[in-house]
Amino acid sequence: MSRAVPGPEGHRPPSVPVQAVSVAMLVHLFTGCSPSPSPPPPATSPTFSEHVAPIIEAQCVSCHREGGVAPFRLDSYAGARDYAQAIKAATSARTMPPWGVESDGSCNTFRDARWLSDEQIDTIARWVDAGAPEGAPGWKPQPVASSSLGAGALELAMSAPYTPAPSEASTTDDYRCFLLDPKLDESRFITGFEVLPGNTALVHHALVYSVDPAQVVGQTEDGQPITNGQRMEALQKEAGPKGGWPCFGAAGEGVTPNGLSVTWAPGTGVTHYPEGTGLALAKGHQLVMQMHYHLHTSAAHLMHEETGGTDQTRLRLELTRSVARPAISVLPDEFLNTRGTPREQPLPPGQAAVPVEWTIPGQVAMSYVEEIMGMKPSRIDVYGVFPHMHGAGRELSATFEGKGTSTCAAQVSRWDYNWQRTYFYETPLSWTAEQSIHVKCTYDTRGYSKPIRPGLGTEDEMCLFGLYMVPVP
Ligand code: HEC
Repeated sequence: MSRAVPGPEGHRPPSVPVQAVSVAMLVHLFTGCSPSPSPPPPATSPTFSEHVAPIIEAQCVSCHREGGVAPFRLDSYAGARDYAQAIKAATSARTMPPWGVESDGSCNTFRDARWLSDEQIDTIARWVDAGAPEGAPGWKPQPVASSSLGAGALELAMSAPYTPAPSEASTTDDYRCFLLDPKLDESRFITGFEVLPGNTALVHHALVYSVDPAQVVGQTEDGQPITNGQRMEALQKEAGPKGGWPCFGAAGEGVTPNGLSVTWAPGTGVTHYPEGTGLALAKGHQLVMQMHYHLHTSAAHLMHEETGGTDQTRLRLELTRSVARPAISVLPDEFLNTRGTPREQPLPPGQAAVPVEWTIPGQVAMSYVEEIMGMKPSRIDVYGVFPHMHGAGRELSATFEGKGTSTCAAQVSRWDYNWQRTYFYETPLSWTAEQSIHVKCTYDTRGYSKPIRPGLGTEDEMCLFGLYMVPVP
């Protein structure tokens, strides 16, 4: 690390004190030469306590603290100084704080955005380049407020502790689905949720799908219908006594969810759906919680030993009988839908940027809503979006396009499978029958030797753009 000598603070004093003038003149008289021309003004170097700490407190400490999900702490000057170069690198690359959609105003604005402005990134970089000076000592962040859904929430837990393990498919990650049966006596709406990981060092994300066990999703060779419930039972049986079943793309091979009820990544905290809205959870429907366990961080290894390496995560749901604006969660992926059809076009291997594009006309979306809700909407208010690809995914952009108009819905420029979530808009978008939704995904297939098929498995790819939306009559 090059430790530049920090320049004097404030290169342009507001006014020159009288005394300073006379001293300078004396010097001038005694030496008989003119004062050397003033050096070029050094860029003011930011200090930790004045300029950097407020950014760290607002955007980093919720995870980088004792008991937080991040592997090291940034809740003191010493912590930040020790990681100064890594902080500069991660913030400049925008890998930290983790936030998947561009939020600089060029493509919509999102609620609670974990987003640093260019200016903040520059402040951090200049602070690091100046040798990470502390400034006033003794900075301490405010304690992180813990919130909870309260006693009225419905709590569902994995039925037994699960021991994540590496597999043939991956030595560093384990993706596992667990059945959570809400056992509702009547249908309800989910208006908020919280995920309480049993082992914060292992749990990297949780996606909870709602599944209708009675839905027919295929047929046997002799033409008998197969339901979601039968598929899940078979997966569970095949997986043996460890608990749950392997899954990667959604709720497991062959299971068709009817919505995504919860998206959670570390640091998410209690989530309330946008004001007045909620997602229906029908009586008899079940929830499948896809857990992503991360096995490779050193912190995970440490914790792994301390805790015996098991996890039993709990999901808490805030439920109500009715909401003013019933929402639905849809998971369109027209690339995935080509699997096994004559239209299927696998991604060619060995290329830096393979594009996939799909469009759904507004009319089609409106008819789909009519089919599932029994009401033809005049428009759809889109409150939130859930971009999703697998390991080869790099970029995803989505726009609503109408007669001569185009509205940017989301721009993902650095796809990271490890940090998935629903991004809620500050102001919902209005989608009409005249507007189609257009999604473009880009993949880097250079690390692959075989064509990549659309599909739900680890070795397959997806180009999904989920929507949390409210159809308006
Ligand atoms: C939502 C939780 C969360 C927030 C907020 C967060 N981090 Fe992290 N950070 C992590 C986790 C977890 C890791 C470990 C690597 C991983 O799992 O991606 C990490 C890793 C890092 C690393 C190691 C290098 C890397 O990129 O993996 C640096 C440096 C870092 N964070 C800096 C920051 C800074 C600076 C901020 C705020 C501007 C911040 N983080 C905000 C969770 C968070």
